[in-house]
Amino acid sequence: MRTILAFNGSPRKKENTSTLLQSALDGAASVGAKTRLVHLYSLNYKGCISCYQCKRISGKSLGKCAVKDDLSPIFEAVEQADAVLFGSPIYFGNITGEMRSFLERLLYPHHVYDKNRTSLFKKRISTGFIYTMAVTEDRMNELHYQQNLQGMESFIDHILGDIRIMNACDMLHTDDYSIMEASAFDIEAKQRRHEEIFPLERQKAFELGKSLVA
Ligand SMILES: Cc1cc2nc3c(=O)[nH]c(=O)nc-3n(C[C@H](O)[C@H](O)[C@H](O)COP(=O)(O)O)c2cc1C
Repeated sequence: MRTILAFNGSPRKKENTSTLLQSALDGAASVGAKTRLVHLYSLNYKGCISCYQCKRISGKSLGKCAVKDDLSPIFEAVEQADAVLFGSPIYFGNITGEMRSFLERLLYPHHVYDKNRTSLFKKRISTGFIYTMAVTEDRMNELHYQQNLQGMESFIDHILGDIRIMNACDMLHTDDYSIMEASAFDIEAKQRRHEEIFPLERQKAFELGKSLVA
């Protein structure tokens, strides 16, 4: 049985990002995969502390993160998985701090500074990234979000395995805009879009999940 892990980089456990990740996992489950959703904000960890134990030649932590915390069992689970899917809201044009700290710890131990930038990750697995954001697709392009995100995507692709991307734009910040100044947005259009388009985004995520374990 194939296994897929999804990592939610949003502090919210039932909103845009986790909903789409869950749809992707439902897609993977529909073709028989074992699935698990991990909420990063529920775990206790920090980003890489530059100890370089993971780089020490013949050291006991070569290729592994030497820091022991809530991520240690997660790294073992990733090594057993056939696919991993990351999900993050866009905060100030990039992934959330927790997602970035997680990726530093997950990826860096496998990254070798030889001429080929060899990956110590033992196999190639399928990977995916779902981004959710409030801006429209046009605005996402104007603001060059894709360029901001490309660096980390290429490390995931190189170290773990081929990456597929899904951008979910024009998401609602909240279901109650009456609490905030929001004249920058056309709220009615946003709410209408949420009713009409979000189910299609869920379907797209469902298909992505299926394809990651195919
Ligand atoms: C701190 C913060 C910063 C944000 N910055 C952006 C941004 O730069 N661009 C954008 O499109 N949306 C931004 N948003 C909106 C979220 O990306 C969007 O609502 C996302 O879908 C929330 O995901 P969630 O529902 O899973 O928490 C921001 C939201 C927060 C809370």
